Amino acid sequence: MIHDKIEQIKTEIANSLIQTTDELELFRIKFLGSKNCIKDLFSELKNVPNEHKKQVGQQLNELKNLAELHFTAHQDVLKTEVTAENKLDLSRPAETTPVGSHHPLSLVRDEIITIFKKIGFTISEGPEIEDDWHNFSALNFPPEHPARDMQDTFFIEKGEREMALRTHTSSVQVRVMENTAPPIRTISPGRVYRNEAISARAHCFFHQIEGLYIDKGVSFADLKQTLLYFAKELFGTKAQIRMRPSYFPFTEPSAEVDVSCSLCNQKGCNVCKHSGWLEIMGCGMVDPNVLNACGLDSKTYSGYAFGMGVERITQLKYRVGDLRMYSENDVRFLKQFQAGI
Ligand code: PHE
Repeated sequence: MIHDKIEQIKTEIANSLIQTTDELELFRIKFLGSKNCIKDLFSELKNVPNEHKKQVGQQLNELKNLAELHFTAHQDVLKTEVTAENKLDLSRPAETTPVGSHHPLSLVRDEIITIFKKIGFTISEGPEIEDDWHNFSALNFPPEHPARDMQDTFFIEKGEREMALRTHTSSVQVRVMENTAPPIRTISPGRVYRNEAISARAHCFFHQIEGLYIDKGVSFADLKQTLLYFAKELFGTKAQIRMRPSYFPFTEPSAEVDVSCSLCNQKGCNVCKHSGWLEIMGCGMVDPNVLNACGLDSKTYSGYAFGMGVERITQLKYRVGDLRMYSENDVRFLKQFQAGI
């Protein structure tokens, strides 16, 4: 009887699982507390026949010692063991998670995309490894044009075919014209490559956003108004543009676009080289040869195109003088754009 109870408590002690301080406290209350179960057995001792009293008393003392030993052993383990429970210090200052930031080129690219989206332009993308047709021939580059020269273009052997890293995203616009019926109103953002020595002012890759609008009766006035709208959205309502005659194989007439220098309000500064104007893009009316090459009837349709470098616009917006900063991945540089997330 009492013997059985002693054995039962013994196995209970041996089997009790103590992994947390809460479990340790429950153990203490049950086996060592003021109303513990071993005490109950001690009070039953008076009912044990005299000849067995000594022996049972000894067994009860051993049981009590066993419970104490079990308790202190686990108490020590819990004190030294670094458990999730005792590691938690609610008064500790919070550790902030480091937050990344958008790259300045992504910020400016997204801003430009938003401006053109508002007036109905879609976004089109294409491959960075291009064939001669999409990068040059369809765009009215004569076979001897210097831009095809090894100095400007990275050529790649791809099986039997000679391919190139695209030198501009006009190649994407060729693909759009080949596959879409007008009206077409699209911009093509993307990375382009040119075989140039890397310096503060030139890099072997950079980013462009080119625009294309094709419909019946598109005129140079439409081009000019669209670009004026763009300049005011990007540089502020006071921004003005001017166009200077230029040449591109794929547009006729062609122009370079300057925006009024917002840094000095056209008073003259180092950035605009005291001219009051900053060159930001090339543009023009799509050459009829290009329309025909892409399967569009140049007698029915006309259109305009423009193209700008994202690095150039970013330089003007954030005054970053050295082009190489954009690809060095220096966190001290990138962190400065954190607010623009
Ligand atoms: N594709 C030209 C370049 O890379 C830019 C451009 C696009 C010019 C469209 C005129 C019209 O320099």
